[in-house]
Amino acid sequence: TITTLYAALLGYAFGSIPFGLIIAKLGGKGDIRSIGSGNIGATNVLRTGSKGLAAATLLLDLAKGLIPVLIARQLFWEDMGWTALFAVLGHCFPVWLGFKGGKGVATNAGVSFGLAVPLGLTYAVVWIGMLAITRISSLAGMSAVVAAAIAAFLIGQPTFAKVMAIIAVLVIWLHRENIKRLMAGTEPRVGGSKAKPE
Ligand code: G3P
Repeated sequence: TITTLYAALLGYAFGSIPFGLIIAKLGGKGDIRSIGSGNIGATNVLRTGSKGLAAATLLLDLAKGLIPVLIARQLFWEDMGWTALFAVLGHCFPVWLGFKGGKGVATNAGVSFGLAVPLGLTYAVVWIGMLAITRISSLAGMSAVVAAAIAAFLIGQPTFAKVMAIIAVLVIWLHRENIKRLMAGTEPRVGGSKAKPE
């Protein structure tokens, strides 16, 4: 129906705003796509050396997933899954950047909280926990995405479970270069001078 289209457009409109690119540029770090992994996410913004810019990217990328889903919750409850899916799709495939965007981890965190608080909490606990243990952002992100999909299935809300499963497959596919590096043992760790040199 037409509300499905509106719901999807709402998600995409928010999700496709490339905050990492904008913030790195405003912060005087140039084009984030030519730094580190080339990704537009907070992890790569951190590689510019600015924790503040990375934190701002993380929060805004999270908010652009959360806000449209909360709006959809009010406007078109039964179609809010489409808003969730298209917020992440917008981040990963923004029309403004020739459909070359990020990997969806932060935006999907916001989406998870918007869909159901237990999903968001599962996501946050696994994400933060795995990051604390491994210091590998990609591994922590992928673990959180999969955990949230499993949680959505366990909650017994079929639409959310479907949406989170599709997003999980997408996010893992977008991390294929990270996965290769993880298997080769060359994936960089984040944070601190205490991190072991690679
Ligand atoms: O969310 C992206 C993160 O999981 C990995 O980022 O820059 O290390 O590829 P990056």
